[in-house]
Amino acid sequence: MHPAFTTAPAEKAVPITLVAETAWEATGATLDGPVRRFAEANGFAAKSGQYLALPATNGEVSHILFGLGDAAARSRDPFLAGKLPGLLPAGTFRFANAIDDMHLATLAFALGSYRFGRYRKADAPKARLVPPEGVDIADISRIADAAALARDLINTPANDMGPEELAAAAQNLAQRFGADFNCITGDDLKRGNFPLIHAVGMASPRAPRLIDMSWGDSAHPKVTLVGKGVCFDTGGVDLKPATGMQIMKKDMGGAANVLALALMIMDAKLKIRLRVLIPAVENAVAGNAFRPLDIFPSRKGPTVEIGNTDAEGRLVLADALALADEDKPDLLIDLGTLTGAARVALGPDVPPFYTNDETLARDLARCAEAENDPLWRMPLWRAYDAWLDSKVADINNAPSGGFAGSITCALFLQRFVEAAKSWLHVDIYGWTPSAKPARPEGGECQAARAIYRLLGERYG
Ligand code: BES
Ligand code: MN
Ligand code: ZN
Repeated sequence: MHPAFTTAPAEKAVPITLVAETAWEATGATLDGPVRRFAEANGFAAKSGQYLALPATNGEVSHILFGLGDAAARSRDPFLAGKLPGLLPAGTFRFANAIDDMHLATLAFALGSYRFGRYRKADAPKARLVPPEGVDIADISRIADAAALARDLINTPANDMGPEELAAAAQNLAQRFGADFNCITGDDLKRGNFPLIHAVGMASPRAPRLIDMSWGDSAHPKVTLVGKGVCFDTGGVDLKPATGMQIMKKDMGGAANVLALALMIMDAKLKIRLRVLIPAVENAVAGNAFRPLDIFPSRKGPTVEIGNTDAEGRLVLADALALADEDKPDLLIDLGTLTGAARVALGPDVPPFYTNDETLARDLARCAEAENDPLWRMPLWRAYDAWLDSKVADINNAPSGGFAGSITCALFLQRFVEAAKSWLHVDIYGWTPSAKPARPEGGECQAARAIYRLLGERYG
């Protein structure tokens, strides 16, 4: 069970009443006179996120009121209860009443208990929740554990999270669940025919690598996950400005999220033959770095002209997707922090996804909504495919002009997928720019929870 939860008996837990503005009058009327007057004297009105600890006659905290605000408000956040761990004192608590989505409220409590504590003692919340009746606490715990893994990996700065450390994190996970683990490193990438992963990663003294993990019964449907593992993205020779480079430690967010997803899949023992591929590199600047207009072969065959060294994610994914495609998976999924254009289109909270599988698109949109892990479909717009043409090679990695940047990136990746029965690409952000309930500022688990729900429905 996740550490935000406790098996302590519910009778001893302090009740938390989650109360919408419209319900406050009725709820208030059920309280003892002095307690109700205390709430009124403190101006409690069940506003969104409003918090009040009510005293017992002996001065102890006997009851918590937590406002849900206007239930019909457009900005209503299903994770509002994720604020509670940051407000509550140490102790054992329980939800006193049921609300529409107990699953999300309970999950929010665990997600909101997260603190990144690697470099200094974090003021970790000490409030524990007795799981409410009817929720699957084992499932919620594994989802919250997976989110913490993704957040920790992303929040760890690049000096402590290079390609080698990312590989070690993957190996750790593989060992925990008895998965097979393999890693191709440095010049072996050239010998093994991963020219693009090698080209992007070679300028860093921290050697590039391709992480390859397999788990599960080979008779089960094959699901392969590919995650962009750029441990730091300087932009390369097409150097990013300081403002654009600032948070590029998060450029392995795709890798972090496929590892989170793998954790959930393996822990839940889904009936899947799982493979996880992570090209782990650092996009560095040095004399031996790849340059604009260099041309490289790709694993799949087509030659790739480098229009921009900052479009490195699609390059490393291209070789990893080509390898994934070779065993004709039933479902091939890649996640990566690929374009600024995706943020311009949909902002940090709503990653675009791409697929030509209509059933998958529908199912995923529904699961994203249900898990409050928002995703929005964007089109693999075929006419724009011509924008990837190069005058001297088979394809260019960065069309000039920059229109529809997230779409053209998806179309670039699509060129390397052919045999997979179904393909899904998600252009994630992997980062919460400013704290929201259940989502502390920093690295974020994105798309993994929605996809886990979808896989659970199909292969549970
Ligand atoms: N890692 C970045 C994308 C990114 C930037 C994600 C900022 C989130 C925030 C990626 O490698 C990149 O630099 N993409 C370029 C592509 C362009 C050169 C075609 C971009 O989006 O500007
Ligand atoms: Mn880049
Ligand atoms: Zn990048």
